[in-house]
This record gives sequence, structure tokens and C-alpha cells, in this order.
Amino acid sequence: MIVAIDGPAASGKGTLARRIAAHYGLPHLDTGLLYRAVAVKLIHRTMLDDAEAGAEEARRLDPAGLNDPELRSEAAGAGASVVSAYPQVRQALVEFQRRFAATPPGAVLDGRDIGTVICPDAEVKLYVTASAEERARRRALELRARGETVDEAEILADIRARDARDMGRTSAPLKPAEDAVHLDTTELDADAAFAAAIAIVERRTKAA
Ligand code: DC
Repeated sequence: MIVAIDGPAASGKGTLARRIAAHYGLPHLDTGLLYRAVAVKLIHRTMLDDAEAGAEEARRLDPAGLNDPELRSEAAGAGASVVSAYPQVRQALVEFQRRFAATPPGAVLDGRDIGTVICPDAEVKLYVTASAEERARRRALELRARGETVDEAEILADIRARDARDMGRTSAPLKPAEDAVHLDTTELDADAAFAAAIAIVERRTKAA
């Protein structure tokens, strides 16, 4: 079974993907980490604006390095939003993601173009959203819990800018697949969102 999960930044799709994967005993790939890893390599080389260098880094990406904490930083996220607009970078990462998904017994992948480009034939496609205000509130809570001082208005502005860039780019923009089931988590806590997601997976796999 392949479960494709897409949605905007801080929608809760990552947490959902992890929990769904654990529930079904499937491997999970957070595809944002691939773009973050490419961005961090380019930032170190001060070449964030070089699409070709990005493609080269993407082709020689070592998946073993994907748990580096630096990839979780705000700078890596912002950089990822830039490099993910380069078609050459996206192209260089397609094969790895498709192979990960196609390896038995399947997988849960989360990102922006999983249901539309990477795994158009996935059995289950979820499009996870939440209002920008709620996503900013969650992100602020998360950062405060890590001991950081945060300006929620600034986070909200960042989230809106990220949405505009992810949805507005020409190459594989963020958008729901036609056959994706939408899950709005604005009013749901993590457990309620998980229960709703499992209900969708069960319904889709029974219907198949
Ligand atoms: O989900 P995230 O915050 O780790 O993603 C970081 C950036 O990477 C995000 O701005 C868009 C991009 N991305 C993408 O274009 N396609 C994916 N499948 C995953 C992430």
C-alpha cells in the first residue's frame, strides 16, 4: 500500500504521516527533507541561487544524512522552498522517491507533489490543510517548547510567503490531486486528526 500525503507547511501532515506509517508498519519518507538537504549543501557553498549545482547535489544525496538536525532549521526550510522550485532539482529527486514508494510492502510519503507527480497511482491520497493562522499558532507553540523566542505575526507572514511560493511555482506546485481526500485539521487535535486519517485510509483501501 502506498499512502501519499500532501499539504502546506505546518499543516500537521508530517506527524500524521509518521503515525500512519507506524500504525500500518510501513516505512515513512518525509520528502521535504530531501529538498532541505539539497538546500543546506547549497547554503554551505553559498550557491542557493544555482539550479545546476542544486541538481548535482540532489543526484549525489546520501539518504543516510537525512536525520541531521540542521535540516529541521528555519533556514533549511526557507532554502528548501527556493531549491524546490528548480525543475532540475525536482527531476533529480524523482527516482529516489518512486523507488522508496515502490519497494514492498509500500510506504507513506509526505510532501507537496506526492499524489500528483511522484505517486499518481497511490491507493490512498490525503491532502492535509489547516488555516494559516492555526498553522502559525502550532509552529509558534513548537518553537516556544524548544525554548526559542518567537513572533507569531512574523511566523504567519512566513507561512503565507511559503504557501505562495509552493503553490505558485511552475514545476510541480502544491495542489491537491483530483482523487485526494481533503482533511482540514484546523479544528482537530493531533489524535482526532490521526483518527480521521485512519478512517480515510480504511475507507479507501476497502473501496479499492
Ligand atoms: O515540508 P517541508 O517544510 O520540509 O518542505 C520544505 C520545502 O520543500 C517546502 O517549502 C516545499 C518543498 N517541498 C517540495 O517542493 N516538494 C515536496 N515533495 C516536499 C517539500
